Amino acid sequence: MDNIYLPQKVKITKIDEQSSTVKLFRFSPIEPSAFKKNDNDLVFNPGQFVLVGEIGYGEAPFGPLSSPYEAEYMEIAVRKAGAVTNYLHSLKNGDEITMRGPYGNGFPLDFIQGKDMVMITGGCGIPPIAALVEYVIKNREKFGRIYVLYGARTPDEILLKEKIEEWKNFGIKSIITIDKPAPGWTGPVGFVSDLVKEIEIDEANAVATMCGPGPMMDALEKILRPLGISDRRIFVSMERKMQCGVGKCQHCVTGDKYVCMDGPVFYYDEIEKNHD
Ligand SMILES: Cc1cc2nc3c(=O)[nH]c(=O)nc-3n(C[C@H](O)[C@H](O)[C@H](O)COP(=O)(O)OP(=O)(O)OC[C@H]3O[C@@H](n4cnc5c(N)ncnc54)[C@H](O)[C@@H]3O)c2cc1C
Ligand code: FES
Repeated sequence: MDNIYLPQKVKITKIDEQSSTVKLFRFSPIEPSAFKKNDNDLVFNPGQFVLVGEIGYGEAPFGPLSSPYEAEYMEIAVRKAGAVTNYLHSLKNGDEITMRGPYGNGFPLDFIQGKDMVMITGGCGIPPIAALVEYVIKNREKFGRIYVLYGARTPDEILLKEKIEEWKNFGIKSIITIDKPAPGWTGPVGFVSDLVKEIEIDEANAVATMCGPGPMMDALEKILRPLGISDRRIFVSMERKMQCGVGKCQHCVTGDKYVCMDGPVFYYDEIEKNHD
């Protein structure tokens, strides 16, 4: 499929319950050429989004979490929120849905090369970070030290546990913290911002990427200021209600920006300006 504006039919090949409210869906193209690669040999740039749904039920944006090099399938994690996401949660293996995209800018892959990286995420914000980790793994020699700081409310709400475990084999240091002590949990407890002492980077040659709920902006301040990473080296992925995905409906406007066209990834100082 060459035209990213047209919805294409894809078939669900795997559904994995990640938590009581989040399911991971893997889907594959029905037409052999459906997942076309871009000039970087990627099906999407980590941080871009696709619109997934079904005719008659609507569409919603999701950040793919699978390797961007993978053309046989794509994976998304869907948290139940409203009409479309509840519909997706009702589906089973073999069902067909529609997908269009990828849209948006994604993380700046050229700029981040050769650098140490701190990735900060929380809640259901991990998909684009996971895709970025997969990209880093494939190009491991081009990156320095990589940290993933991930905040979840409870151990049950930690998503992509198996993938996070695999990332260790590639020198990706993931540190997960939960909000309150929980039975059987021996890891860190508290805010993601408390994890700053665990990080050792070359501040002159480091970048940060972030995707998570609004309150995590505070965590950014508390982590990235002490680490000395400047605003133009901090890339934040924003979520906004979307409809068209292509700059026509104005649903996603924030400040003077369209999240679908100008983002969803912004410099940190752009976010401050556009934060509402
Ligand atoms: C770029 C981008 C990437 C995203 N990636 C993921 C992802 O990987 N996994 C995931 O589960 N969700 C993701 N989301 C959020 C997801 O798109 C929404 O939860 C979904 O659109 C809700 O659709 P719905 O029809 O089920 O709910 P609706 O019936 O449209 O709304 C249900 C409730 O959710 C609110 N809502 C809807 N969309 C958003 C939004 N984008 N931000 C804040 N509140 C919203 C509505 O105001 C309403 O209160 C992403 C959003 C964006 C913009
Ligand atoms: S989603 Fe329609 S303008 Fe951005």
